[in-house]
Amino acid sequence: MPLLYGVNHAPCRGNRATSFALLCSCLAISSCFVSSVSMPSPVVITVDQSGNGDHRTIQDAIDAAPANDSAAVVIRIRPGVYREKVVVDKPNVTLTGTSASSTVITWNESWVSDQSPTVSLLASDFVAKRLTFQNTFGNTAPAVAVRVAGDRVAFYGCRFVSFQDTLLDERGRHYYRGCYVQGATDFIFGNGRALFDKCHLHSTSPAGAGGAFTAQQRSSESEDTGYSFVGCKLTGLGAGTSILGRPWGPYSRVVFALTYMSSTVRPQGWDDWGDPSKQRTVFYGQYQCYGDGSKTDGRVAWSRDLTQAEAAPFITKAWVDGQQWLR
Ligand SMILES: *[C@@H]1O[C@H](CO)[C@@H](O)[C@H](O)[C@H]1NC(C)=O
Ligand SMILES: *[C@@H]1O[C@H](CO)[C@@H](O)[C@H](O)[C@H]1NC(C)=O
Ligand SMILES: *[C@@H]1O[C@H](CO)[C@@H](O)[C@H](O)[C@H]1NC(C)=O
Repeated sequence: MPLLYGVNHAPCRGNRATSFALLCSCLAISSCFVSSVSMPSPVVITVDQSGNGDHRTIQDAIDAAPANDSAAVVIRIRPGVYREKVVVDKPNVTLTGTSASSTVITWNESWVSDQSPTVSLLASDFVAKRLTFQNTFGNTAPAVAVRVAGDRVAFYGCRFVSFQDTLLDERGRHYYRGCYVQGATDFIFGNGRALFDKCHLHSTSPAGAGGAFTAQQRSSESEDTGYSFVGCKLTGLGAGTSILGRPWGPYSRVVFALTYMSSTVRPQGWDDWGDPSKQRTVFYGQYQCYGDGSKTDGRVAWSRDLTQAEAAPFITKAWVDGQQWLR
């Protein structure tokens, strides 16, 4: 069953505009010292379960980080399985692990409220590197591993593991590079604007169980949200186990480009989630994909085989305005 609940559409606010304006005015005034606009060096905090760092839990480290925007905070997490819920509610936090396989944040809880995910990312300018985010609740209910509700959030070499509703990409602009996302149905869902670059999506849905890789939301044509997958790989447990996506909201928008699709992707590709009226409003496309599951001749008539020009807006970092904020 899908997870249905109200999503707050409050616009994301960043304070980059003010610092940019400050920088411009300084550049214009020759008496400004370079030091007044240079980046303060980041605060580095180490988390180590055995007690040889600054903190034993990730949440303690986040709580100890400065709450203002005076400096970036880098939290280095030593290898271990961290059984804790984590909430990041301060901007400019980076979490880094040694490797995703050795540094795991895990919890076991089905969706009861927005307090339920293993990790909740509520602030802007967050980065995660080489971490596994997991929810071990299993296959009987939605269980979110990560909820991404901040703007300008990037993940590099991370793993997201659950069963139903693994990754709630809820709102804001997000970039995932070299990540692994595992789940059975609707396992990348929400109303974010996200670019998945060279990621591996693995479906654990059995055949006949209604697996879907995505459930993007987008409720109206004026929303600039949608998911783009570029140079990715889609695999699963067998032939025809999963569709590419289904529309949580009527204007759901998802594009797969230059992506390998194994035979786990069903020929029809998409479904309308029992509401034929959504066939007219969704935007579901693919561009130059390959593999047994990528053939477009069996696709639903209302999905699109994109031309180069149609695909162009989705296949670079510009899809998430990355040229402005990706470092
Ligand atoms: C930012 O927070 C740090 C640590 O909490 C504090 O030392 C510093 O004075 C704060 N800066 C501003 C501008 O509030
Ligand atoms: C992030 O940190 C940089 C310095 O490293 C600072 O210039 C910027 O204002 C911060 N941004 C936010 C949103 O706190
Ligand atoms: C998760 O919690 C449920 C009960 O809420 C329990 O039945 C299950 O065994 C737990 N799974 C793991 C992997 O701990």
